[in-house]
Amino acid sequence: CGIVGYVGGQSALDVVVAGLKRLEYRGYDSAGVAVLADGGLAAGKKAGKLVNLEKELVGRPLPAGGTGIGHTRWATHGGPTDTNAHPHLDNAGRVAVVHNGIIENFAALRDELAERGHELVSETDTEVVAHLLAESFSSCGDLAESMRLVCRRLDGAFTLVAVHADEPDVVVGARRNSPLVVGVGEGEAFLASDVAAFIAHTRSAIELGQDQVVELRRDESGGKGGGSAGVSVSVTDFHGAPGKARSYHIDWDSSAAEKGGYDYFMLKEIAEQPKAVADTLLGRIDGAGSLRLDEVRIPDSVLREVDKIVVVACGTAFHAGMIAKLAIEHWTRIPCETELASEFRYRDPILDSRTLVIAISQSGETMDTLMALRHAREQGAKVLAVCNTNGSTIPRESDAVLYTHAGPEVAVASTKAFLTQLVACYLVALYLAQVRGAKWGDEVRGVVRELSEISGEVERVLETMEPVRELARSLADKNTVLFLGRHVGYPVALEGALKLKELAYMHAEGFAAGELKHGPIALIEHDVPVVVVVPSPRGRSVLHEKIVSNIQEIRARGARTIVIAEEGDESVVPYADHLIWIPATPTLLQPLVSTVPLQVFACELATARGNEVDQPRNLAKSVTVE
Ligand code: G6P
Repeated sequence: CGIVGYVGGQSALDVVVAGLKRLEYRGYDSAGVAVLADGGLAAGKKAGKLVNLEKELVGRPLPAGGTGIGHTRWATHGGPTDTNAHPHLDNAGRVAVVHNGIIENFAALRDELAERGHELVSETDTEVVAHLLAESFSSCGDLAESMRLVCRRLDGAFTLVAVHADEPDVVVGARRNSPLVVGVGEGEAFLASDVAAFIAHTRSAIELGQDQVVELRRDESGGKGGGSAGVSVSVTDFHGAPGKARSYHIDWDSSAAEKGGYDYFMLKEIAEQPKAVADTLLGRIDGAGSLRLDEVRIPDSVLREVDKIVVVACGTAFHAGMIAKLAIEHWTRIPCETELASEFRYRDPILDSRTLVIAISQSGETMDTLMALRHAREQGAKVLAVCNTNGSTIPRESDAVLYTHAGPEVAVASTKAFLTQLVACYLVALYLAQVRGAKWGDEVRGVVRELSEISGEVERVLETMEPVRELARSLADKNTVLFLGRHVGYPVALEGALKLKELAYMHAEGFAAGELKHGPIALIEHDVPVVVVVPSPRGRSVLHEKIVSNIQEIRARGARTIVIAEEGDESVVPYADHLIWIPATPTLLQPLVSTVPLQVFACELATARGNEVDQPRNLAKSVTVE
């Protein structure tokens, strides 16, 4: 979910709604706002995307005021209805609260409140907070103190932002696990899940730590405790002790979060991939072809002792992790496993101080991944994060981080973040090999050279995508598309299928090509499109021969074959109904070029089917619940 809070001289409603627009990637099941004005509190909320709320507010305007909060929701407890939309209010309508996360003990709290005569109207876990805040406020008369008292009673993960009509110049926020950032402007201050919500107003930010409460208070006397003149910002822990919070300057270009002439963010982000890949490599390979990863602050002596690596991630990042495993084992010979973060923690994994856990996450907030890394650290393992979001929770809680430099990724379906995750994982694998004194043979030297030139190859792929788009449009009425690959082509097949599910809402499945004959081949019937990712014929020729046989097997059973193969690979031509050529690369690097046509394919198919490309149904970009 996305959260915004504002106190200052502008219309809170305008600032909050504009901020929510920038946070819609975090969820778009419903949206709502509350503003304090004329001694009271006025709220509006609506199921569906933010535009529904905006329409509602045109018909039923809220009074103007300088203090407000807002929310864009990804539903957890309770369906995406108007009633379940945030903000939630107490029975007197004096307090309003928005929430991101899950309050695990909400059922017990709700029963307790019901016994005391509170009437709860929604199915959400959040509503209990509004009622608890109202109760506490009636005895202490201070919203920040009420928030501290309530937070101490909550289990689970939450970011909360609240206002109370009796404190018209105050917004209070609290954070446990899910992110919350303060923006400090001139005579105004902001609270948001992500700086994108207020970057149009200020570049000065304060990042809240775990279990902290923040109060933004507008007063005539000027700021104290880090606030600008007119608004004070005070941070405490849940018990009222002053809290430390990190101030920083936001240096990204706000235009990076705009569509820049493209119809969708996803198209823009696909097009940005050559630059993203180049940026992620920048300064990390020296002239002699050695890796320089100074940010990886785990001492070389520790890295030399590592005897097992576990990669944990979710979704697209998990696919990057599957490819990382192959690269790591090949170059370092350290046993490596890749596991879905949500599964890893709950199977009692065997970890110790010689285990290196690599947590891959674009957002740095995915709760499943965060919980996996916490579990790993509790067992004494070292954790290296591969992350795209500076200062987010996952890197902060890791022993070291290697940032991907993809820039902000807004479309829910990940593209440029995936390619840069691959680059970062290759760098980590090569770096580990270097630290451990691997002899830099010709193969690795060649890989490092080709890696440093790969962004040009990604660019070349992008220039030849028109036939892929045409093909996608011609398949818009199909029900099923299958994807096959072996070795690094297998995770690419999974990623191709995931993109199609996310965007085109089609039945799409990726298989290891060799596994097809053990069951899934029964799915092949006349004209079923099957995308096959063919490895380089030069690298491992056995792998190549095997997959060429697999193509023949499915074609013999009527499949329509869509073959992604290396330029000049004539051996596949007789068996391909459609051919997509990609540039020659070393085997392990091929996903950097073979994934791109699959992204374009899914994006175009989604468009042809009339789907929302940037905000597919039911999804959210950052999933901050387990
Ligand atoms: C969500 C998104 C996916 C993403 C996954 C992991 O499910 O919809 O696109 O791959 O989370 O996100 P992360 O930010 O951890 O890379």
